[in-house]
Amino acid sequence: MRVTDLLRTMDIFEALPSEELEPIAQLLRERRLLEGDVLCRQGEPGDALFIVTGGRIRLSTVDPSGNEKVLTYFTDGQFFGEMALLTGAPRSATATAESDSQVLVLQKHDFDLLLATHAQIMREMLKVVSQRTLQTNQQLLAEEPGSSVTVGAGRIYAVFSPRGGAGKTTLAVNIALQQAMEQPERTALFDLNLTFGHAAAMLGLTPQTSLADVPAESLADFDRRTLGRFMATHDSGLQVLVAGTRPEEGEVVTAAHVRAALSTMKRQFSASIVDCGTSFDEPTIAALEMADRLLVVCTPELNTLRDVRECLRVFSEIIHLDADRLVFVFNHYQPFAVLAREQFETALEQPMAIEIPHAGEAAYKAAARGEPLVRSGSGLPFSKAVEKLTRSLIPAEARPTRKQGMKVLGSTKRSARQSGGLMGMLRGKRAS
Ligand code: CMP
Repeated sequence: MRVTDLLRTMDIFEALPSEELEPIAQLLRERRLLEGDVLCRQGEPGDALFIVTGGRIRLSTVDPSGNEKVLTYFTDGQFFGEMALLTGAPRSATATAESDSQVLVLQKHDFDLLLATHAQIMREMLKVVSQRTLQTNQQLLAEEPGSSVTVGAGRIYAVFSPRGGAGKTTLAVNIALQQAMEQPERTALFDLNLTFGHAAAMLGLTPQTSLADVPAESLADFDRRTLGRFMATHDSGLQVLVAGTRPEEGEVVTAAHVRAALSTMKRQFSASIVDCGTSFDEPTIAALEMADRLLVVCTPELNTLRDVRECLRVFSEIIHLDADRLVFVFNHYQPFAVLAREQFETALEQPMAIEIPHAGEAAYKAAARGEPLVRSGSGLPFSKAVEKLTRSLIPAEARPTRKQGMKVLGSTKRSARQSGGLMGMLRGKRAS
């Protein structure tokens, strides 16, 4: 890929016209790294910014007892090293090539000049620095043993579609892995498909335990340690919880199971992605109620349009979800489209947050190999769209306040009283 094409994919340069990208590209020098090479070291002075063009860079810090702690990984199109340049402080972390990699190096005097002459780059840079600081704060808070401040600190992203086969699981898995590549061990995926869940298989995992194994009487004592025993770990660091390992186990999972698991996940992970079922059963409703963001996967068809409209009615009139939590994703799960995005948006009277291109055969192969496309095909338009969606959805959001966290828990208590799925909720409403 040409350097200017790469720059165009980066948020900080996105708004610049092509003629301004060329001189910036001229300032960058390529540097090749072998696996294990250290690019910059925590505590040392910093005089350059790095943009990854290939491979994978591990960012880590060392705590006072000498233990290495991985903060994140950087891949194609991501930059780092801006903090020392902006503040004059020593490098806040060590960057090591996880595999043979290439980076573009921008020297400090060129960086300073660029920021001084482009307000847009400065604004985007500040946004990234704020997001990174927020993530670090959140991580520190969550790690404080027994800290009550961490209650509700993480966010839950539920992925829902009224239509089976819409690509909901593929999206949930790819979003989760994309986020885990940046926040390893701080990201979780919860497969809430009660009978036939495929999320773990898409990651090449075969979990031996599931939420269904947690006895109902133990739910009140559910904590991080208990949760950890029922989760599988992907090699990216992503933690995966499945509702059941066999179809018959799905029936055992109740709304109380889901609430206990998600409350604990909110404390332990900064982002938990839930692959919801396609029906409004009680466990699914519990997840929808607890979600900070609800991704509604739409496909370019009339039937889906009708079903999504019905969902919106249910969300608003029966489950009483805030409309501003909804995020619509237009997914081309097949190579042709009956409805264009604009037609769907007009008919639904809702804007789509993003359009996900059809990934063709690559998607099937990735699922069969257990290697999601965001990792095995990171240059594909599908992967780039998922990356964009994940970045705009997850890091752009501030940590919810305690008040917001409690509001979510409050609405959960309401549904605990009104059991019986949608009809139960309707009965409760009529009686009140
Ligand atoms: P700098 O301190 O110059 O060198 C290390 C770089 O790692 C730092 O700039 C940021 O670019 C990056 N960095 C530090 N902390 C985080 C974090 N929590 N998340 C992502 N990137 C970070």
